[in-house]
Amino acid sequence: MTLIDGKKVSDDIKQEIAREVEQMVADGKRRPHLAAILVGHDGGSETYVANKVKACEVCGFKSTLIRFEDDITEETLLDTISKLNNDPDVDGFIVQLPLPRHINEQRVIEAIDFRKDVDGFHPINVGRQAIGLPCFHSATPAGIMELLARYDVPLKGKNCVVLGRSNIVGKPVATLLMQKSQPGVKGDATVTVCHSATENLADYTRRADVIIAALGKPGFVKADMVKDGVAIIDVGTTRVPDATRKSGFRLSGDVDFENVAPKCSFITPVPRGVGPMTIVSLMKNTLLAAKGVIYSK
Ligand code: GUN
Repeated sequence: MTLIDGKKVSDDIKQEIAREVEQMVADGKRRPHLAAILVGHDGGSETYVANKVKACEVCGFKSTLIRFEDDITEETLLDTISKLNNDPDVDGFIVQLPLPRHINEQRVIEAIDFRKDVDGFHPINVGRQAIGLPCFHSATPAGIMELLARYDVPLKGKNCVVLGRSNIVGKPVATLLMQKSQPGVKGDATVTVCHSATENLADYTRRADVIIAALGKPGFVKADMVKDGVAIIDVGTTRVPDATRKSGFRLSGDVDFENVAPKCSFITPVPRGVGPMTIVSLMKNTLLAAKGVIYSK
């Protein structure tokens, strides 16, 4: 069993990005600039955004954090997005999700200029990804594909089962897994997407060569649901109460790691698996945005 070390891969990539940024600066260009909007005080979102700001420092990027309280109006948020869209000093920005209920999340996502949408959530980027055109790939699916590539996990012709059909993980990762392989881009998997309405879900997972678990249900994938030699990417990061931790919680993946890992050819841990890769994919997109290589400036 090979434990896929997302933390190590992400640290390596951040160093690669930092070297490129120092070269850009030496060539007289300005540093890439990522802005993030955080609404409210959701614990998970606070952690993610703090990690994004830290990753910007490591990569040599400029970062700006814009905070609002929970009671912000949609109008104020849309106005802030419009300012960032028009600010030539900002290469890319994100609005951390989830947003408070009174704000229409889809309207917010669509208000972001797709050329600055480094999360890859705008329908133009989602659509371009689905048909294999250059775009900002959404960060978690891109991070998953990077891990599969760096660890040389076989995909071509393999049975890949995606658990979960969210817009930010399940659907986009399914399209990436099934894309035609090209130099530097692996795909060619046979993909099945299972979700909350799937009947006899274990019939699918037991036949899977690769499982991408993105349900947000701690410990859902059990040892009797997988075959020997399966490769598993665990996207789950649910906070579960844990009185032994200072924080009062621990992060739990969607896989019953202790019992499933011995059957695997490859598996990602939680934490230090997909999470750090999501953040590094955002850094990669921001660098691409600064360089204007996907959408010219
Ligand atoms: N919430 C959970 N994951 C993400 C992400 O990748 N980007 C944003 N903006 N919000 C999230």
